[in-house]
Amino acid sequence: MRPLQSLGSLKLKLGIVIVAAVWITAAATIAAVRWLGLPSIVGAAAGVTFALACVQLLARGTTKPLREMAAVASAMARGEHGRQVAVTSNDEVGELAKAFNRMTAELAETDRLRRDLVANVSHELRTPLGALQAVLENVVDGVSEPDPETLRTMLAQTRRLGRLVSQLLDLSRLEAGEQPFDIRPFAPRDILESAAREARLHAPEDVVFSIDAPAALQADGDPERIHQVVMNLVENAVRYSPRPGHVKLRAASGADHTVVLEVDDEGPGIAGEDLERVFERFHRGDGHRGSDGGGAGLGLAIARWIVDLHGGTIRAERREPHGSHMVVTLPQARA
Ligand SMILES: Nc1ncnc2c1ncn2[C@@H]1O[C@H](COP(=O)(O)OP(=O)(O)O)[C@@H](O)[C@H]1O
Ligand SMILES: [Mg+2]
Repeated sequence: MRPLQSLGSLKLKLGIVIVAAVWITAAATIAAVRWLGLPSIVGAAAGVTFALACVQLLARGTTKPLREMAAVASAMARGEHGRQVAVTSNDEVGELAKAFNRMTAELAETDRLRRDLVANVSHELRTPLGALQAVLENVVDGVSEPDPETLRTMLAQTRRLGRLVSQLLDLSRLEAGEQPFDIRPFAPRDILESAAREARLHAPEDVVFSIDAPAALQADGDPERIHQVVMNLVENAVRYSPRPGHVKLRAASGADHTVVLEVDDEGPGIAGEDLERVFERFHRGDGHRGSDGGGAGLGLAIARWIVDLHGGTIRAERREPHGSHMVVTLPQARA
């Protein structure tokens, strides 16, 4: 039983407890002396004792969350996450307990993400390192010759490592907000053209690119960074394109003073449940996990960070009958 539980103010509760304590002491003392005929000093002691018992009852549950919070905070300091305190009142202490619970939940989530990140990073680094080590051991043991083919394999693994490390650095700088953007008006058409030019260097010959963008269209943003975003989308589009395949790059003005950039391919597309998750760090579609063709699943996570910091949006959609449709919106340049 918690008689004062529903009151929303700690001050009011304390006031009631104090007034009640005074009245109960007085009444109990008088009763003890008058009716029970006790000596006044004993009567007063009995009154005080009775009042204390009543206060104990009245104030029940008021400070329990505080003690619990102290216990949970100590547990968190020991690295034990995810514990919550029981919210037993509606007053300021209850509010504090609720805020405390939100904080512990968020810290537990952050801790989980950190662990996942460390596990993922170590795994991603270990794979190319292991391959590199195996090849080198074979060469040192004389099992295989350091011929151009072997060296090329090692170079490919080294490149993969280098790429992964620079992506990780990029992500951590973006997250820390360390790299200020150089926001200015730029022509999305130029970005699409240079991305297509760059992609053609590595793409199979039967994957063709087409660009559809008005030359006069201007967006606001850091052209280098937006180029990085588009390049990520184009690389993916090429990777998942059938042969022959067609990658379409488009820019147009959208609603509410935005510029919309789109990259379409004719590949298998992204499964419905993955449309949002592909933007998470280290998320790769099932078919691509562990294969050498793809990256570590950081490209779209980086793209989302960059676009978010521009105040834009990025999303993935499916094309009918197959293929993916990636859409980036950015603020339009003010004329
Ligand atoms: N155009 C696309 N078609 C099909 N799947 C795609 C496409 N783009 C991205 N994906 C899926 O999203 C995942 C994450 O992409 P990304 O973040 O660029 O990582 P990475 O390219 O390093 O694998 C890919 O592994 C793939 O499963
Ligand atoms: Mg990618």
